[in-house]
Amino acid sequence: MMNLPNGQTLCYGIFGYPVKHSLSPVFQSFAFSKKNINAIYMPFEVKPEDLEIAIKGAKAMSVKGLNITIPHKESVLEFVDVISDDVKKIGSCNTLLFEENIIKAYNTDYIGFKRALEEKTSLNGKKALVLGAGGTSKAIIYALTSSGVKVYLHNRTIEKALKLKEIFDVEVIGHIEDILQYVDIIVNTTSVGLKDDDKALFDYDKILAHHIVFDVIYKDTALVKKAKEKGAVAVNGLPMLVYQGLESFKIWTGVDAFDIAPQIFELLKAYKT
Ligand code: ATR
Repeated sequence: MMNLPNGQTLCYGIFGYPVKHSLSPVFQSFAFSKKNINAIYMPFEVKPEDLEIAIKGAKAMSVKGLNITIPHKESVLEFVDVISDDVKKIGSCNTLLFEENIIKAYNTDYIGFKRALEEKTSLNGKKALVLGAGGTSKAIIYALTSSGVKVYLHNRTIEKALKLKEIFDVEVIGHIEDILQYVDIIVNTTSVGLKDDDKALFDYDKILAHHIVFDVIYKDTALVKKAKEKGAVAVNGLPMLVYQGLESFKIWTGVDAFDIAPQIFELLKAYKT
């Protein structure tokens, strides 16, 4: 029988602006269905100026959990009751749990990243070059440094990289190409590569076969394609997206749905990002 919502259906969702491109409603709904949990997962387009009222509204309407995406990951912390230690260090959250009268903030981005990267390489003792110093970068630097990885950080605007050095144990570098031969892992956390005609972050021909290249963008970017051509292991942001989502799912429901990850990857092939 079809699982239609009924009076006991629980409500989850994602707050973002924009949110129309989000794949989370697709795979979270799939996970609820596969795990026989009576719940729906909705995209909520919430403008920055409406965030407070939207959070209060969600609480008033007994929403059980939310993902939080751009541009609310930092500003939402003002409206929650409990902030996990990871969130305090990273400074942003992507998951809210509504429990009784309490809203708890978590960050599962860094866990999703770590899981996706660990599928390709062990981390302890490795050296990584991280490109970009925005919100995503902080979660990734946290994942890497807390896993025993030495991090070299490069950002177009060096001041922002130096700000991150105040929080994390990283070495800020000016010229990407000087460091390439010394690192094992290269992570792109910038939006460069989203558009096919984006200017390359560095000369991708200098990627070496021993590199593990990780791009947070959900599709195979010029960086990922060139890395594969060079014989390196390269991975796009899709596994990180799915794993952060399944980690959020576990926080909300207590159910581990990582066993259905392969089915989710298959499902998402049909969706354009
Ligand atoms: P997110 O939350 O996704 O990390 P963000 O906080 O806006 O987004 O950060 C975007 C990152 O991409 C920044 O590091 C930005 O560099 P600047 O700090 O110099 O702005 C980087 N970025 C965006 N466009 C870029 C470009 N064309 N070349 C290099 N870096 C770029």
